[in-house]
Amino acid sequence: MTPTDTDQRMSGLVVVVTGAGTEKGIGNGQATAITLARHGAAVVCVDKIGERAESVAQSIRKDGGSAVSVEADVTSIPDTERIAADALSNFGQVDGLVNVAGVVSKLGLRARIPGGPLAELENLDMDDWDFVYRVNVTGAMLCIRALGPALRKNGGAIVNVGTTMASLWYGGGGSIAYSTSKAALEGLTLTIAGAFGPSRVRANLLVIGQVRAPHIDAAAERMGEAGEKMLETRRVSGLLQTDGTPWDVANTALYLTSPDSSWITAQTIFVDAGASHTMR
Ligand SMILES: NC(=O)c1ccc[n+]([C@@H]2O[C@H](COP(=O)([O-])OP(=O)(O)OC[C@H]3O[C@@H](n4cnc5c(N)ncnc54)[C@H](O)[C@@H]3O)[C@@H](O)[C@H]2O)c1
Repeated sequence: MTPTDTDQRMSGLVVVVTGAGTEKGIGNGQATAITLARHGAAVVCVDKIGERAESVAQSIRKDGGSAVSVEADVTSIPDTERIAADALSNFGQVDGLVNVAGVVSKLGLRARIPGGPLAELENLDMDDWDFVYRVNVTGAMLCIRALGPALRKNGGAIVNVGTTMASLWYGGGGSIAYSTSKAALEGLTLTIAGAFGPSRVRANLLVIGQVRAPHIDAAAERMGEAGEKMLETRRVSGLLQTDGTPWDVANTALYLTSPDSSWITAQTIFVDAGASHTMR
């Protein structure tokens, strides 16, 4: 698909996407950055790993879109201030922020096994707890804080990214820090929606279900036969019984940052094929 194949509803708007990179394949931030650009947005691709951010920005520019990259850690105040400065120096305004950067653990997905170290209070690693909270909660807040003045200038949209693991019990296979930190984003979203509402800045929480992200495929491959079973369980957990992808997430982020959702704020939107209803 090229930019001319799509409607240009984001034309004239500038959106910052954090966690815009991914190790391999297409992640949620990457799909979001690409989708926004294809619909006409100028995108500021932010990632802690600079090459990842630049590779996404490059692919957008190659596709005829407009993007710059910023290597920044969302947990650092100076870095988040630099994101705002770079966005303004490149594009002169900021109309949207999609807080995708998020982590499960310092250990990545390896520790996410039933009864594993991240699921048991007794074995909880406090450094890991602090790390996860710092990225998932403090990082989102710092980005909003740094970009707030620019967003409030002309009105805009903030999208925080949550997970169904914050509100559903997955049989102890999760991470306490991940679930609770992502649950905190509901409070952050509501508070910001209230405080920024009079400046015509909207804030919504996009809750992602069990999408088929690259690291899920990689984990399944490592698990062999059990991996196939895990993918099937994820697929049938939703009412649609089909795989969701980062493009489903991206299309929802597009809607929530676009003028199409101009009267929608302080909402929690689930992108999970209805799994949050089947699993309750
Ligand atoms: N993949 C899923 O199934 C799923 C489900 C629910 C929610 N989510 C959420 O979606 C988001 C992205 O997930 P993904 O699987 O696409 O991720 P991913 O790991 O593929 O990509 C995330 C990117 O964020 C970057 N990042 C991490 N910490 C950062 C920091 N401190 N500052 C800046 N960048 C940082 C990483 O370098 C990476 O490139 C996360 O918030 C995650 O919680 C994912």
